[in-house]
Amino acid sequence: MGLDYPFALSERDKTDARGPAALLRLGDLRDLGDLVRIEVACFREGRFQRGQLRWILRNPHAVVLVEDTGRSLSGVVMLLFESRVCRVLSVAVVPSQRRHGLATKMMRTAERVAQARGCSGIRLEVSTRNLAAIELYRTLGYKVDGHLPAYYSWGDDAYSMSKPLEAVHTSSAVSSGAAASPS
Ligand SMILES: CC(C)(COP(=O)(O)OP(=O)(O)OC[C@H]1O[C@@H](n2cnc3c(N)ncnc32)[C@H](O)[C@@H]1OP(=O)(O)O)[C@@H](O)C(=O)NCCC(=O)NCCS
Repeated sequence: MGLDYPFALSERDKTDARGPAALLRLGDLRDLGDLVRIEVACFREGRFQRGQLRWILRNPHAVVLVEDTGRSLSGVVMLLFESRVCRVLSVAVVPSQRRHGLATKMMRTAERVAQARGCSGIRLEVSTRNLAAIELYRTLGYKVDGHLPAYYSWGDDAYSMSKPLEAVHTSSAVSSGAAASPS
């Protein structure tokens, strides 16, 4: 595992429904099997395959944050840094852990990671039929800024959604590129 973000570690919460050992941390190649299982549990179409997940985990421009219960992973957010914009590749929470605020927490941490890397905005694409995810992003302040017909291989349209990020001043340890490496 790469260096942990101080603020990611501070997300440990011993009082909520996630259990005493739950921790949001950086993912690495040792999580590959769990990430494949999350893809299968959470997506019917357009799943990332094992090779794609491995590519993301190894990519120095990507950051993977995983929610670790101590026994398994219950959620993941994958980020790709494209110049000064952070792109959310995926966010997923296993069905048994939904509606407890986990995706909200992971997305907020993702935004802080992006801010720490100097990003001025964060963006994503979401199927126009994925009402749960659209509502999640809307509640987090993301706005629809585009409609992409037949964006997905299975034919669904997508919305592109984005949110500006305020500049922050962070310690050099957090803002350094090395701290974001997942491997
Ligand atoms: C979308 C997803 C990540 C949400 O995860 P979650 O941990 O349940 O989300 P949260 O608990 O943080 O929900 C925050 C808010 O989002 C909205 N929301 C989340 N799920 C919703 C649903 N099924 N229906 C309507 N609104 C929903 C609500 O406003 C919710 O607040 P509330 O619970 O106080 O009403 C999860 O349902 C999931 O993994 N889905 C499958 C994968 C996917 O579609 N990912 C997104 C595309 S990449």
